[in-house]
Amino acid sequence: MDGTDPVPHGETAISVAAQYIQNLSPLVPRVALVLGTGLGGLAERITERVVIPYADVPHFPLATVAGHAGQLVLGQLGGVPVAAMQGRFHLYEGYTPQQVVLPLRTLHSLGADTLIVTNAAGGLDATYKAGDLMLIRDHIGLAMMSGINPLIGPNDTSLGPRFPAMTDTYDAELRTWARMTANQLGIALREGVYIMLSGPTYETPAELRFLRLIGADAVGMSTVPEVIAARHMGMRVLAISCVTNVALRADDTPVEPNHEEVVEAAERAGTALSEIITGVLERLH
Ligand code: HPA
Repeated sequence: MDGTDPVPHGETAISVAAQYIQNLSPLVPRVALVLGTGLGGLAERITERVVIPYADVPHFPLATVAGHAGQLVLGQLGGVPVAAMQGRFHLYEGYTPQQVVLPLRTLHSLGADTLIVTNAAGGLDATYKAGDLMLIRDHIGLAMMSGINPLIGPNDTSLGPRFPAMTDTYDAELRTWARMTANQLGIALREGVYIMLSGPTYETPAELRFLRLIGADAVGMSTVPEVIAARHMGMRVLAISCVTNVALRADDTPVEPNHEEVVEAAERAGTALSEIITGVLERLH
């Protein structure tokens, strides 16, 4: 490489972005937090904070979605040095899967060895209600199974192996801590399978029935790219969905969602989610 990396998501982009962040904050984050639609409130709890807008970081994409702040918040939470992404990137914004995961790879290169990720999702399990929290036990990367995977292309062996396993993707110990924290706080925590589609269209009735049939409990448009990139780099992963809307009723009839309702429900459930994550961080500490 001659220093002019033509690929805005490659090794050079990661080190340039990491260097820029290091110049503004000496913090070595242990945990990368990715905060989904309407769930950015957790970043307000971070102390000794340094806030860096994505727009300032070389090579970072820009968050374009309402409900996503679009900035990095570095500091302390639950006694742990963290780097929070308040707002994330989605495939439906037109970014490549590699661009979507560039910020996470940058946070890993700064030192983060654990990823905690949240998202807004539609409930497919008929017992779920809007505002429920769901610990992700496993995922179906439907968009990835059809060729949209952040690891497609030359493999950077400094990041991880060519063919990473995805069997123990969602860390058992972190899930136990999340369950224990939720129990102690009296917060109901479901557990299930998240399925990712590219969006931005919500699902047709036939698609919703199909997703349920193949074993998904909640559906969303994010998270799986970051989780794949994290596992590729050997990071531990905890992921929690906020069920913002009932997508499929018990009688298999669909319910029309809208983005405003999704953001509002996420904001309402945000406090409980923040408390669970803070509790997990305290245990990690
Ligand atoms: N479908 C897809 N993504 C979503 C939904 C949904 O119903 N709700 C929040 N994100």
